[in-house]
Amino acid sequence: MTILRAQPGLLTRSAQIIDGKAVAAEVRAECRIRVQKLKQSGIAPALAVLMVGNDPASAIYVRNKIKACAEVGIHSEQFVFDKDTSSDVLLERIHSLNANPMIHGILVQLPLPSHIALKPILHAIDPQKDVDGFHLYNVGALVSGSAVFPPCTPFGVLRLLEHAKIPLEGQNVVVVGASNIVGKPMALMLMQRDATVCICHAKTRDLAQFTILADILVVAAGRPSLILPQMVKTGAVVIDVGINRLPNGRLVGDVDFEGVRKKASFVTPVPGGVGPMTVTMLLVNTIASAEHAAHRMP
Ligand code: GUN
Repeated sequence: MTILRAQPGLLTRSAQIIDGKAVAAEVRAECRIRVQKLKQSGIAPALAVLMVGNDPASAIYVRNKIKACAEVGIHSEQFVFDKDTSSDVLLERIHSLNANPMIHGILVQLPLPSHIALKPILHAIDPQKDVDGFHLYNVGALVSGSAVFPPCTPFGVLRLLEHAKIPLEGQNVVVVGASNIVGKPMALMLMQRDATVCICHAKTRDLAQFTILADILVVAAGRPSLILPQMVKTGAVVIDVGINRLPNGRLVGDVDFEGVRKKASFVTPVPGGVGPMTVTMLLVNTIASAEHAAHRMP
């Protein structure tokens, strides 16, 4: 924690900002080297991204994923389906990508339109190409502590914590949000690293009684200003996974950043915190998949 002496006799704390952009750039540099090595051994890592409909937020995420692939030398293919596309059409494309040895990662951008059942789609992806880590096989691997493709957002959070040299063993961690994409895998990954983990969610009564105990607080609830300074322990590490667009167009997280930074030891900003890491860890998983494919080659 940085102690700033604002005026003589008056101590003002200010958390260190964990710069997700900088850490992402570091990881992407590592990615470039791994991609080069793969290409030297005759393998061009490739990711297929499938999107159904034209949700504006999803379109931005997909564009960022494609751009990030290009930045590190990963080949990407984008498949955009009309919003009324049937499950069968989507499944057909997934099966053909599963069978294509030139494709190492397959990702279906979520959310899907409501007429498409999510689970059969996620479970149709070959687990060896499931770079999102959402297939039941990979969820099971995560539970048993042998994940090959950790889900990208929590994987990115771990990398940020590691970068900031924040120990996890024995720490009280509170995860706010219990989604399959962030909260649940986050909790499992932290537990695997010997943290004491508590998961809070939309039905949790008196959220503050839990958050105040956290040495590390990870917030992924999708609600602006959910976490106020009085809910945070002095010196806590606060990771904000939320991305919310306010009516005035401003992008904010779930944490009252200006208030909480005066109390926390470390905090992630929005934008520029966890966001850049999510896309980056997708690159890491895609490269890992290509490396595994290389090892399976005769
Ligand atoms: N939508 C929001 N986050 C994600 C993610 O991590 N993966 C996919 N496929 N869709 C998302």
